Amino acid sequence: MNNYKDRVVVVTGAGSGMGRAMVDEFTSRQAYVAVLDINLKAAEETISLLKNPELAFAYRVDVTNPESVKEAVDAVVRKWGRIDLLCNNAGILDGHATAHEVSVEEWNKVIAVNLTGPFLMARAVIPQMLEQKKGAIINTSSTSGFSAAGGGTAYTASKHGVIGLTRQLTFEYGAKGIRVNTICPGATATPMAMADPVTANSPDMLAALEKFPARRWCQPSEIAKLAAFLGGDEADFVHGSEYVMDGGWLAAARDPF
Ligand SMILES: NC(=O)c1ccc[n+]([C@@H]2O[C@H](COP(=O)([O-])OP(=O)(O)OC[C@H]3O[C@@H](n4cnc5c(N)ncnc54)[C@H](O)[C@@H]3O)[C@@H](O)[C@H]2O)c1
Repeated sequence: MNNYKDRVVVVTGAGSGMGRAMVDEFTSRQAYVAVLDINLKAAEETISLLKNPELAFAYRVDVTNPESVKEAVDAVVRKWGRIDLLCNNAGILDGHATAHEVSVEEWNKVIAVNLTGPFLMARAVIPQMLEQKKGAIINTSSTSGFSAAGGGTAYTASKHGVIGLTRQLTFEYGAKGIRVNTICPGATATPMAMADPVTANSPDMLAALEKFPARRWCQPSEIAKLAAFLGGDEADFVHGSEYVMDGGWLAAARDPF
């Protein structure tokens, strides 16, 4: 099992759901973790729930804003002197709007958080990782990175884009010691999914849960364990891959929405 003692991990969207679970997983493996979220209170709450809160620090970041991103990454490097792993986890849903219904503002917002955000964060940490000659980045896409209908037009396009971003970063930086990979969760029991009327407890979702192979929601802690594998030395040969954790949803191709 990857031990993260003295490693420095940065998690975005760490005030909720999978990001919160990642902070728990990495600190339980002795990493120092920067708990970044646009909602500072939520980030602080994440830390208050930890067994070893002294390993974590909260910082407000808006991943869509280059200045905010630079400020947060600078703060991490000032505090701990390095960054070993960046988990680009922050993301938003899009209300399932179809292409002719989605407003340009909504499209831009979803692309800004889900795709430009991971790009800006990667762009800010890569110089530090190049200096270290080592580092890892995990981008969170979705089953919507492969198939339609998990969200609306903007969400699906953004999550397909995340996979392309991972592949291009791998091409550009893999030989320089930076491994980049994508996690593609399926339906996961987080506040995002549970607050969404189309996914949580809708008749379609309940019917799908009875049919697809795993027949249950994924837990955020399961995604966090996958991140802990991908970000550590046991995954040293894993570059540019998409790791799907969806209980067989894509394989069985029964997307109900
Ligand atoms: N829950 C699912 O079923 C599911 C499935 C596939 C993929 N995903 C993806 O997994 C990731 C985590 O999702 P989750 O379900 O834990 O969501 P969540 O809503 O529980 O948490 C997302 C966090 O991101 C933060 N955030 C939003 N905009 C931000 C910004 N501009 N800058 C910084 N932080 C910001 C929010 O404040 C929140 O704390 C997202 O990228 C999501 O698209 C989720």
